[in-house]
Amino acid sequence: MSKFWSENTKRLQPYVPGEQPKFSNLVKLNTNENPFAPSPLVLQAMHDAVNGDLRLYPDPNADNLKQTVADYYGLQKSQVFVGNGSDEVLAHAFAAFFQGKQQLLMPDISYSFYPVYCQLYDVKPRVIQLDAQFAINSADYAGAVAGVIFPNPNAPTGCILPLAMIEKILQANPECVVLVDEAYIDFGGVSAVKLIADYPNLLVVQTLSKSRSLAGMRVGLALGQAELIEGLERVKNSFNSYPLDRVAQAAAIAAFKDDGYFRSTCKKVIDNRIWLTEQLRQLGFEVLPSYANFVFACHVEKAAEEIAVFLRQHGVVVRHFQQARIDNFLRISIGTVEQQQRLIAVLKELLMK
Ligand SMILES: Cc1ncc(COP(=O)(O)O)c(C=O)c1O
Repeated sequence: MSKFWSENTKRLQPYVPGEQPKFSNLVKLNTNENPFAPSPLVLQAMHDAVNGDLRLYPDPNADNLKQTVADYYGLQKSQVFVGNGSDEVLAHAFAAFFQGKQQLLMPDISYSFYPVYCQLYDVKPRVIQLDAQFAINSADYAGAVAGVIFPNPNAPTGCILPLAMIEKILQANPECVVLVDEAYIDFGGVSAVKLIADYPNLLVVQTLSKSRSLAGMRVGLALGQAELIEGLERVKNSFNSYPLDRVAQAAAIAAFKDDGYFRSTCKKVIDNRIWLTEQLRQLGFEVLPSYANFVFACHVEKAAEEIAVFLRQHGVVVRHFQQARIDNFLRISIGTVEQQQRLIAVLKELLMK
């Protein structure tokens, strides 16, 4: 604590990201990265972008990327916003739509960055309990004052809310923004993007970090009607005009263009999720039905923390949250077949001795 800090800085409790270990021989299943490399076309596009033009600023509006995303989703370019990872896009959404307001509705168990943005942007959250199955009950989300925010699929549970329920939440809150964070939507969910034409209060946020294997490039998106997007542009252009560098823009465009590669890696992740779920159940885990690139699992006898420590000692990292209601769960990212076999072998060592 320093006397030079502002009152707001003193109050902040920053988000703590999952560990990024410095050794390479770990089986890393703790931060929901994609186990597969980006498309070869993405790597080629990035390579091509590394040239003398790097002396020039990138396109501040990322027009080509926005047009590519708009074409992909059947939207207008004015309905697409891009930023430096979806975390930054979320931050701008808080500033543009929620700042200084009371009662932003969010689930008690969801992405732990939301409460951090609430502190940063002076938003009062109203936290709503998920039901006993960890599902969002749409009836609980009526009458928000600041707005509504939730991930779909939810994180860290992986559970999905059907579009019809999202529509109910949109209809119950015509006077405020409903932000649907679709970081994991491509692993089996149906995107709310198709509702954008009917709901001026819907903002869909997505990322290229998960399904498009580009966590290291930091590219996120927001999709919504043009007036919402204009609000985000105002904030972004008051903060950093060039959030996406030339290489990131080239990578993101190529990632959207190589749809075949994207679909095949998403399918592999889903197949591996089915295998992992089955294996974990055989070892006595309860596994929530997941639509994401991770599973959320709780062992019937062994404490989650003990399992996480044992795994870590044997070179496998997963995520354990010290939070009420979920402190006996582990969030395990979907890996390659080999990584998952290693995980299961270590678990067998612990649970079958
Ligand atoms: C629900 C959710 N939203 C947003 C993000 C941020 O993703 P990124 O900033 O890499 O786009 C994450 C990252 O794990 C997430 O789990």
